[in-house]
Amino acid sequence: MSDESRRSITIAITGASGALYAVRTVAALLERAFHVELVVSDFGRRLLMEELSVSADRLLPHLIETYGATVERGSLQLHSNKDLGAGIASGSHGCDGMVIVPCSMKTLAGVAHGLSRNLAERAADVMLKERRPLILVPRETPMSLPQLRNMVTCAEAGAMVLPAMPAFYQGPKELSDLADFMAGKILAALGLKHDLYPAWKE
Ligand SMILES: Cc1cc2nc3c(=O)[nH]c(=O)nc-3n(C[C@H](O)[C@H](O)[C@H](O)COP(=O)(O)O)c2cc1C
Repeated sequence: MSDESRRSITIAITGASGALYAVRTVAALLERAFHVELVVSDFGRRLLMEELSVSADRLLPHLIETYGATVERGSLQLHSNKDLGAGIASGSHGCDGMVIVPCSMKTLAGVAHGLSRNLAERAADVMLKERRPLILVPRETPMSLPQLRNMVTCAEAGAMVLPAMPAFYQGPKELSDLADFMAGKILAALGLKHDLYPAWKE
């Protein structure tokens, strides 16, 4: 995206570690008055609960409590991952971009091979076919050759692979600093200005 005039982003949360990155990214978009279309896989729900004690259905109150009332500038719509009839499953739907954060190796494989087994995979497929921004935030270590190949396949198809690899040169002190860094990288990849981490100084 070149500016903030297009204001609808799909976020998919799948079952890889790093639910905090997803939550910070959703909050940052809502603070900027975006409409966020949210899809959470079954294992994404489990990770939200295990890592943050948050249920996907109660995400908005959690965001308001954690990040303040500024998140109410935006709007959040939660879709069932089974609902292949949702608007974001169609290319005619005016969604400006999509982020899968965190992106499990299973969902990565589904996107790489165009499987569209659920709404998250279908919405990602739509982004690729419509040539709209798709950002994948995979987390796994170590990685198998099929997993590495799936990342290459997605990159070749036009997705940006933005691994969950927070840096330490910013001197993070809290987990929230690491989440801010990853959310900032994601916003920058969407072409959005942010101050989630300080600009690099020589
Ligand atoms: C606690 C927990 C942590 C997991 N962490 C990861 C992970 O970091 N990366 C990954 O690719 N899969 C991870 N998995 C496995 C995926 O959740 C699993 O493959 C699941 O089928 C993914 O489905 P989904 O892509 O529909 O969410 C984890 C599972 C659990 C229960």
